[in-house]
Amino acid sequence: MVLTRYSLDQFVDDMQGLVARQPEQAQLFDRGSAYLERLIQDPEALPEQFRRPAGVGPRPNHGSYALHRSDGLFVSAVVWGPGDRVGPHDHQTWGMIGVMGNAIQETRFRRVDDRERDDHAILEQDRTTLVQAGDVSLLIPEVDEIHSMENRGAAPTVEIHVYGKDLVGLTRSSYNLETGQIKRFRSEKFDNC
Ligand SMILES: [Fe+2]
Repeated sequence: MVLTRYSLDQFVDDMQGLVARQPEQAQLFDRGSAYLERLIQDPEALPEQFRRPAGVGPRPNHGSYALHRSDGLFVSAVVWGPGDRVGPHDHQTWGMIGVMGNAIQETRFRRVDDRERDDHAILEQDRTTLVQAGDVSLLIPEVDEIHSMENRGAAPTVEIHVYGKDLVGLTRSSYNLETGQIKRFRSEKFDNC
């Protein structure tokens, strides 16, 4: 029997076709997460150099690798070494995160203030989930897209991230849970997720 592998290229083709049809959000997530679930079943679909932390630079225990960027579609690989984490932040676009190996602890937050101030927010913790290999987590703009991530395990966690916008140059927000301060950030190169 010949096993047909679902490649990264095939996934990108499928996603580009889907995005080009400009589906409703529910349809986008429905079809898109089915493609992503298929891709993350096979860790070998991602070249080995994208499955390990960078090992150098300001965050040696982290890896962020852009895999594809085109109009309306951005695909990346993100690796969280043991203990690697990021605080609450938003995305300003729809997103899907598929865990390919190990697991990530993801905490979602709800913004509960009146949004009158752009430098201050009150966040309430909504839920914490251990997202396991094979699972897909959805980021829904405005509704449910503020999260923090932490690898509490002993091995690197590998993820495929899919977004509707290129994250480089996109102005986004990170949130300080203690002070309520909102900090805007904008990456000049791809080093976040
Ligand atoms: Fe994120």
